[in-house]
Order: sequence, then C-alpha cells, then structure tokens
Amino acid sequence: MDPVISPSILSADFARLEEDIRKAEAGNPDYFHLDIMDGHFVPNISYGPMIAQTMKRITKKPLDAHLMITNPDKYIPKFIEAGVELIYPHIEASYDVYRSVQLITDLGGKAGITLNPGTPVEWIEPLIDKLDAVMLMSVCPGFGGQKFIPNALEKTRKLRKLLDEQKPGVHIAIDGGVDTSTIGPLFEAGANFFIAGSAVFKAKDSAQAIRDLRAACK
Ligand code: DX5
Ligand code: ZN
Repeated sequence: MDPVISPSILSADFARLEEDIRKAEAGNPDYFHLDIMDGHFVPNISYGPMIAQTMKRITKKPLDAHLMITNPDKYIPKFIEAGVELIYPHIEASYDVYRSVQLITDLGGKAGITLNPGTPVEWIEPLIDKLDAVMLMSVCPGFGGQKFIPNALEKTRKLRKLLDEQKPGVHIAIDGGVDTSTIGPLFEAGANFFIAGSAVFKAKDSAQAIRDLRAACK
C-alpha cells in the first residue's frame, strides 16, 4: 500500500490557518487531520465541527477527523454534514462501538477506529467488516509534539497480520510522534496512513517536510 500523509492542523498557527494550509498543500498531502478533543476523554479541548466547515472552505483535500470525545454518536452526524470523509472515534470512548462505526457508514462516511497505546489490537476483531481504517495511537492522545511510544511498532505488525487474514486493504494509521525517523520502521511494519502534526507544521518548510516523510517510507 502506498503511504498516505495526513498533516494534523493541531500544530498549525490558527491565526494564519489558510496560509499554513496553502503552504502544506504544496507538498501534496493526501488528507488533513482534525483533532477533536472534549476535555473529558482527553485532558485538552480543541475545536469542533465549525473548524471542519472552515477547512472545507480552505482546501479541496479530504479531511479525516479523530474524535477524542465521549459520546461520539452525538457528533458523528455533524462531522459528516461538515464534509469530513473519514471519521475515527476511539474504541475506548463508546458504550456501543459497533453502533458508532455503523452510524458513520450509514451516513455515507468512511469508518475508522482509534486505539490508545494501552488497548490491545484484538479489540477491533468484531468490527473488521465495517472498517476502512484502524488508527493506533503512538502517544497518549491530547497534545501534539509528544514522544513516540515504541510499542506501536509491535502492535502494527500484529494488526497487519490480523487484517491480512480477515480484510486486507484496511489502512493502518499511526498518530503521534510520526517524523522522518519513526515513519520508515512503521511503514515496514505494515502501517500506511500517517498523521503528522509538529513534523509538518513546526518545520521551516512544511511542503518539504511532507515530501521528506513520504520519501522516508521505503
Ligand atoms: C494527539 C493528536 C495528534 C497530534 C499529533 O492527541 O491525536 O494528531 O496532532 O501530533 P504530533 O505529530 O506532533 O505528535
Ligand atoms: Zn489525531
């Protein structure tokens, strides 16, 4: 599978959001990643569907939304309405995660699911049929710029094997601490969809940073 790069706008400068997006677009990213935090599921608050709508006005690139919120079913329709293509609720955040994933596909979205660093990959087994992507957190969610947790590598290998047996072609996304040193080993382990916040938006040249990430997947 070819690498997919999705810069997380959490690390962008919100006073110059459009300018930052334009600069990053020059590096040909595949998606832009929206980090939705509610201050309950994670110890930080970010932004909601309004910024998804704003991003739709700024860019033609597809959007993926990472829902770090409790009760995701209440907000999934709002992100679909806003034009988000791929939605990743957390498996730990929903009382009935099958219902959450089904809601996304029923509304015409692509369904992802996110696993925290301490959550076993086997948890996704009952959902595999419904999924387009599984996202492994390689930091504890809530903030950009944290240190990569290396257990993501072994989890990626395990998950790729499980998916190959049951539904090949499902993306494995990695979120947290993705940079030019971690992306190569992750790609080799079987991940193909990479979220990068600080590695892109804190770089001097964000377009070049995106090209460098893609080039480091070998
Ligand atoms: C963390 C977010 C990430 C974050 C990644 O909770 O889910 O998407 O923006 O930031 P970096 O790439 O800086 O680790
Ligand atoms: Zn994220």
